[in-house]
Amino acid sequence: RERKRKEGVNLLELSASFFRERLKMPEGQAARHYLAERGLSPEIQAAFGIGYAPDEWESLKRHLSVREIPEALQIEYGLLVHREESGRTYDRFRDRVMFPIRDVRGRTIAFGGRVLGDAKPKYLNSPETPVFHKGRELYGLFEARQANTRLERLVIVEGYMDVVALAQFGIRNAVATLGTSTSEDHLSRLFRMVDEVVFCFDGDRAGRQAASRALEVVLPLMIDGRQARFLFLPEGDDPDTLVRREGAEAFVDRITCASPLSEFLFDLAARGRDLARIEDRERYASQVLAATGKLPDGLLKSMMLNELSRRTGVERSRFEALMSRSDIGVG
Ligand code: UTP
Ligand code: MN
Ligand code: MN
Ligand code: MN
Ligand code: MN
Repeated sequence: RERKRKEGVNLLELSASFFRERLKMPEGQAARHYLAERGLSPEIQAAFGIGYAPDEWESLKRHLSVREIPEALQIEYGLLVHREESGRTYDRFRDRVMFPIRDVRGRTIAFGGRVLGDAKPKYLNSPETPVFHKGRELYGLFEARQANTRLERLVIVEGYMDVVALAQFGIRNAVATLGTSTSEDHLSRLFRMVDEVVFCFDGDRAGRQAASRALEVVLPLMIDGRQARFLFLPEGDDPDTLVRREGAEAFVDRITCASPLSEFLFDLAARGRDLARIEDRERYASQVLAATGKLPDGLLKSMMLNELSRRTGVERSRFEALMSRSDIGVG
């Protein structure tokens, strides 16, 4: 089993250096142009190990096969696709900019590949393999730790390009989930390294939904001393487009001013409600109370109850009594 893991790591490293080499060769010209257009310097490309998968069906396969990597292994690690009907095998990643996904020790465990144009799918990721579990990994975590002797906070963004563009602007503490929503697994890993996470999803409907989901996931992890904040971007922006337009300093300001969890929670519950009406206020209170009930016992929870009481004029003891009932739904 351990031997197998080593074989996998070897073949993934071979593939990563193959992609990096190809980016430098004449066939990598369009990809180099694409990366330059997106404002990424050769230094940042190198820091993230960015490469290029040639527009061919069997170039990586040949490269690995002459190095005696069995095809079965290439398939198992997601680099080669096997067509059942024809029995044919071919490179999964073709004509794409390649982002290696690394584990915390810097070993390549998977890839994300972006098309140079507008073809679909825009990003293609490695499938689940013995070393890659999509719901657990965070893109950019290794690079963030490399770039900082002491990490204080991590910024969670949606995409590969967001992580790399922020790094290009000197903001080297962003990580991305890999096309999945933020899981408890992701967050517990991050909180082992830093006390503060800042969620920064795209300024669109999907991004706002992702923020509400992230709130639900982070609540039970909010032991005292930890911080979670939420940064909302202007409509239509993602961190990549915004940092490019406004620059690093403005983006850092936005991070600094991001809403603390408590504020986001109250705002979210107030959304679409008229708090001058009793019924709306009742639903507002129920929603905040349900979320507060998910917090671990501690100062934050206690202060949320005080604040809720202050905002609604209902005694805190009433909320405590309601909270101890088990039938309160999640708002
Ligand atoms: P976005 O579509 O917001 O990507 O998806 P992006 O980073 O802004 O793309 P650019 O700027 O056009 O290059 C965010 C993330 O969702 C996953 C990827 O991880 C991507 O970085 N995704 C997106 C996929 O896995 N597949 C897709 O087809 C699209
Ligand atoms: Mn598995
Ligand atoms: Mn989006
Ligand atoms: Mn985006
Ligand atoms: Mn983008």
